[in-house]
Amino acid sequence: MAKQLVLCAVLVAALLCSGAHASFGRGSFPDGFIFGTGSASYQYEGAYKEGGKGPSIWDVFSHIPGKVRNNDTGDVADDFYHRFREDVKLLKDMNMDAFRFSIAWTRILPTGSLSGGINKEGVAFYNNLINEVIANGLKPFVTIFHWDTPQALDTEYGSFLSENIIKDYVDFADVCFREFGDRVKFWTTFNEPWTYASQGYGTGAHAPGRCSPFVSKTCAPGDSGREPYVVAHHILLAHAEAVRLYRAKYAAAQGGQIGLVAVSHWFVPNRDTAADRRAVQRSLDFMLGWFLDPLVRGEYPGTMTAYLGERLPRFTPAQAALVKGSYDFLGINYYTSYFTSDAPPRGAGELTYDGDVRANTSGYRDGVPVGAPEFVPIFFNSPKGIRELLLYTSRRYGSPVIYVTENGIAEENSPRIPLGDALKDGHRIKFHSQHLQFVRHAMRDGVNVKGYFTWTFMDCFEWGDGYLDRFGLIFIGRLNGLKRYRKESSYWIEKFLRK
Ligand SMILES: *[C@@H]1O[C@H](CO)[C@@H](O)[C@H](O)[C@H]1NC(C)=O
Ligand SMILES: *[C@@H]1O[C@H](CO)[C@@H](O)[C@H](O)[C@H]1NC(C)=O
Repeated sequence: MAKQLVLCAVLVAALLCSGAHASFGRGSFPDGFIFGTGSASYQYEGAYKEGGKGPSIWDVFSHIPGKVRNNDTGDVADDFYHRFREDVKLLKDMNMDAFRFSIAWTRILPTGSLSGGINKEGVAFYNNLINEVIANGLKPFVTIFHWDTPQALDTEYGSFLSENIIKDYVDFADVCFREFGDRVKFWTTFNEPWTYASQGYGTGAHAPGRCSPFVSKTCAPGDSGREPYVVAHHILLAHAEAVRLYRAKYAAAQGGQIGLVAVSHWFVPNRDTAADRRAVQRSLDFMLGWFLDPLVRGEYPGTMTAYLGERLPRFTPAQAALVKGSYDFLGINYYTSYFTSDAPPRGAGELTYDGDVRANTSGYRDGVPVGAPEFVPIFFNSPKGIRELLLYTSRRYGSPVIYVTENGIAEENSPRIPLGDALKDGHRIKFHSQHLQFVRHAMRDGVNVKGYFTWTFMDCFEWGDGYLDRFGLIFIGRLNGLKRYRKESSYWIEKFLRK
């Protein structure tokens, strides 16, 4: 009898579980879990020289022919600067809890520094946006820096190549905390410093477009084997100083939290060999550990210090103490997994950040992809990779509070695709549904995930790809006055998030 009861209980539990699975949605996550979607100033706002805004390095870079596909620019982007009220309504219609956006540094400080004055119109724009977001029942989740460095600071002293950037960044952050912190409870200092440093200074594919002459002759002359490390070092110090300021001056009164957003792929050993497993560890260290080891442990990963020698700047003991522990939560962006194998070091005359990892990453092993190849050729749809990455991050970094701050998939932007077809994005519904199940799985395994943001709210300017990729839940009619259209995924997520 007792045995039958137990068996019955197990069967009921299994039925309940499968029932919960069938209606996978907001209710499958703990109360208070934050669902949202993200954006960034340069990718969305447009109005690139309106409202007193100063130029950023992306304004300058995108206007250099050949830097961005199709010579696309963010001059107009989604015209979010003028249309944000209409757009915030769409967020509300999708039952979102939060909206992630960034603040354009040069809308607040047109020359990048306080000495150039605070632009009141820029402050007013973000006040209006924040108020609109809150009035519609959403939480603002604010990125202070999403790559649009003030051009004036780049011209004056090389921006992030110089430690002068630390004071100017902290002054900018101070204005943000002071003006907006009464209503903003979630701050992130930097979005994806890995991308900023490695693409801006390693490959030269992103602004400010610097690299070694042997990497590309079209770059501004830089040093791909040194500058990415210098830039990342100054980012980490600027981050840590901004967090110190927030904690000393604002946190108690404003009651907010602050963190940093890191991006990482998940890496799978190509062969089950010690060499390939070490290549996997190096890949994680050079991408994720580059930023999280300093934040959590106050030092760079041993795989980096040992190999890079004097090419890697070091923290003084006081700086290490400042950087260590400088977060309340971590943001993690995830898009893809790769097979990874050991690769030999490059020669002394051809040092680059990419080469320093000494790993060969590929979406394929023996012709078999690690996940379904996506429209964006560097991405492979591997939902289980997000669970692996979350488990790894939690294990290695002492169970931090984590927000998945980006996760998404794109389709092609093409005038050949009829509007009706462009709105049918079943692949996106499947993508988010599967990734969310693996996030939930990681949470059951003990990872402290508190939120999930899709990338992205609306189709937008995708950096070097211009407008070729559509990552949005909302379609933008680029041939139709930037009219907003809801894709099927926006209705799916509205239903998923219904309370
Ligand atoms: C970008 O602009 C340059 C210079 O005007 C031109 O030569 C090139 O063909 C343009 N590229 C595209 C894709 O339009
Ligand atoms: C990198 O990996 C891919 C796929 O496994 C392989 O085709 C290629 O030859 C590898 N390259 C090197 C340099 O090992």
